[in-house]
Amino acid sequence: MENPKEIVAKSALRYITSGDVVGLGTGTTASEFIKALGASPLSKEVTCVPTSLETESLAKRVGLNLVSLNSVERIDITVDGADEVDNNKNLLKGGGGALTREKIVAHYSKRYVIVITEEKLVENLGSRMPIPIEVLPFSYVQIIRELNQMGLSCQLRKNFTTDNGNYIIDCKPNQKVLKGSLQDLNKAIKLLPGVVETGIFINFNPEILYHK
Ligand code: 5RP
Repeated sequence: MENPKEIVAKSALRYITSGDVVGLGTGTTASEFIKALGASPLSKEVTCVPTSLETESLAKRVGLNLVSLNSVERIDITVDGADEVDNNKNLLKGGGGALTREKIVAHYSKRYVIVITEEKLVENLGSRMPIPIEVLPFSYVQIIRELNQMGLSCQLRKNFTTDNGNYIIDCKPNQKVLKGSLQDLNKAIKLLPGVVETGIFINFNPEILYHK
């Protein structure tokens, strides 16, 4: 029996064509896509850019050709998962801690396909999962203090270092922040020195594929 993540991930294969440079997301749903791509006849006809060391190792195991982002002119399409998706197709990402590389790869992708199961659809980002923020270890305590003052209740992700050698702070917004402007929130967080990236993905115009 196929699980819902496997079904939705496999459905993204129809967007891949021979010769594509494919961005590979991170997480359990993206992993199902990577396995499906590795098992498909297209596996030797595409070149892939991984968004994490975990994805890189899985993609190697299933026989995909990998290159670094710096060695390609473009990414034709990226397939990734998400932790939450709102009605305006804004995304919350970073449950797996790969948000910075995922956001960079998404930025350079012509087409951006998000594969999720239905429970990830939400009214407001941050209602189901905390907002992950990647920060430099040097100032994480100061950053947590500032984020708390902004109406976010924050915790350092325990025993976790990102592929970039940084920490993740997981932040639960209070009701006012939850209902407020995502754009303003994202901007305010990014202005704090030592913040590398947030898990708030606005204006990426993703195509959302979901399964119940
Ligand atoms: C990793 C991510 C993932 O895409 C997100 O956490 C969804 O993961 P999963 O498919 O395992 O639920 O953003 O940084």
